[in-house]
Amino acid sequence: MDDRKYRKLFSDLPIITTDRLILRKIMPEDLYDMYEYACEPEVSRFLLWSPHLNIAETRGHIEYLQKQYRKSCCTDWGIALKTNNKLIGTCGFASVDLHNNKAEIGYVLSNKYRGRGYMREAVMAVMDAGFNRLGLNRIEARILEGNRDSEKLAESVGMVREGTLRRALFIKGVYKTFSYYAITEEDYRETQSLHNA
Ligand SMILES: CC(C)(COP(=O)(O)OP(=O)(O)OC[C@H]1O[C@@H](n2cnc3c(N)ncnc32)[C@H](O)[C@@H]1OP(=O)(O)O)[C@@H](O)C(=O)NCCC(=O)NCCS
Repeated sequence: MDDRKYRKLFSDLPIITTDRLILRKIMPEDLYDMYEYACEPEVSRFLLWSPHLNIAETRGHIEYLQKQYRKSCCTDWGIALKTNNKLIGTCGFASVDLHNNKAEIGYVLSNKYRGRGYMREAVMAVMDAGFNRLGLNRIEARILEGNRDSEKLAESVGMVREGTLRRALFIKGVYKTFSYYAITEEDYRETQSLHNA
């Protein structure tokens, strides 16, 4: 990938609007909204991190994200409701591999806002940024065994399961199995043209 595209996107993360959401930088003012979901055990059950034990932990995470924004690194957008700007989750790129022109997507939604299609809307917007602004060749997701909601979401945006790596990640003291889901640029364009036909 031409790394100018990478720097252009992440040096000043753009605001992206969808039908019901605003994808924007996560700000210190989002502290309580983020803590509200990050402290729930159910939210991080299939993630690398553990529930936030106190508000200071969430503050630390927001500070980390702000550093990522300043360093122009690949990062997460905050997902806010258009109606009241409340932060309900995050979605973005966990990593970008410039040489192979691919990225890993990650997403987290507050429990309270599940089952309404919000994350599908956010993931479609982030995929659009990946393929159309970064010019990626492929976007992938690593989904831990048992995370059926995430698998359904990945499938609903056109990703396909490519393979499973057994006991491949040591997380929270246990070896975990995960599957790779991915969508190539070709698949993406095909899905988009079918959708627009
Ligand atoms: C993975 C996760 C984001 C999925 O959340 P979700 O609410 O199921 O996903 P969406 O916001 O896209 O909503 C889809 C659901 O809303 C329903 N829905 C309702 N209104 C809808 C609408 N207008 N448009 C689309 N779907 C709609 C869909 O039918 C679907 O329900 P179903 O799963 O019962 O079929 C969520 O479970 C989560 O944050 N988990 C914790 C973090 C995590 O594990 N992240 C993944 C790491 S790999």
